[in-house]
Amino acid sequence: MKILAVSFGRKGQNCDVIAKEALLGARELGAEVRFLNTSNLLIRSCVGCFGCSHSRERGGDGLCVLKDDMRQVEDAILDADGVILVAPVYSVGPNGQFKCLVDRMGLSHDRAFSDLARSQIEAAGGNPEEVMDMRVFKDRYLGLVSVGGASDEGWTSLGLPNMHLIAFSMQMPVVDQLNVYDTNILVNPVFHENLLARIHQLGCHVASAVGAPDKYQVPYMGDHPGVCPACHNNLLQVEEGTRVSCPVCGMRGELSVQEGQIVVEFPLEEFRHSRMRYGGVKEHMEELLSIGQRIPEETKEKRSGLKQCMKRYDGITDAWN
Ligand SMILES: Cc1cc2nc3c(=O)[nH]c(=O)nc-3n(C[C@H](O)[C@H](O)[C@H](O)COP(=O)(O)O)c2cc1C
Repeated sequence: MKILAVSFGRKGQNCDVIAKEALLGARELGAEVRFLNTSNLLIRSCVGCFGCSHSRERGGDGLCVLKDDMRQVEDAILDADGVILVAPVYSVGPNGQFKCLVDRMGLSHDRAFSDLARSQIEAAGGNPEEVMDMRVFKDRYLGLVSVGGASDEGWTSLGLPNMHLIAFSMQMPVVDQLNVYDTNILVNPVFHENLLARIHQLGCHVASAVGAPDKYQVPYMGDHPGVCPACHNNLLQVEEGTRVSCPVCGMRGELSVQEGQIVVEFPLEEFRHSRMRYGGVKEHMEELLSIGQRIPEETKEKRSGLKQCMKRYDGITDAWN
């Protein structure tokens, strides 16, 4: 069993300590552990070229075309059976480098598209192992830790929810999560026995999930179940009337107030649409694959006149070019 911990914080600071402590927990359960700090790595922002998906469509490896340190992080994640991600909170959410990784891993490692590519290669008589990185099909579990400096937890509210965005494309269940805040006053987690014990436990939780017969049946081991039963986050998006949705995983439910408490009921069938379940990413893949058929004829016809229409912006040029 291989457990990887990735710290997106400063070298030797809070995120590193938390990542290493979680690895000590995983090691206790017999894991081979590996630590990676990304602060000196260059992980460029996705440029939206669709190079990865075009390559996959043509029976290629589907990897990102940008040449930077991303491959190193990607390879470490693919190699692991369990991954502990520890990211600092910058401006109320995880730092930008973390989101760069999410975007770069998302499309290129999407489980539904990878399954489709594999079946297409097989149908054409090819061997997917010769082209694809088969580690994308391996079950892999996540533990997430968001680390903020502020004493007011409210200043870390979008940390963990945003960290979940790395989970759905590769269908990696989050088995535990922890919001560590107040690091300015804590100085270093290593001084705080209870906190250290909880981080250690998170490492054990990730290791304990490895090898489960059904990854979607692994119990969530976090401290609070959260309002969303699929991703266990506590955010709600108000849609219409009493209808609400989980902005992280997309489940829809009905909100009511019962005995002074907010209660949200999510119908069971909504699990099928959650991005944290295979059905959710498959639905999205089908939506993307059908774009061509869904564009109205009149819009397609207008395409030939696009250049002419764009002339209205001629006076506004890119300041840098
Ligand atoms: C640019 C920047 C923005 C930050 N914004 C927040 C914030 O919104 N909320 C918060 O709790 N901490 C914020 N912090 C503090 C960091 O989350 C905190 O120092 C954390 O411990 C960094 O992790 P590290 O010690 O592993 O590097 C910010 C730090 C930086 C550098």
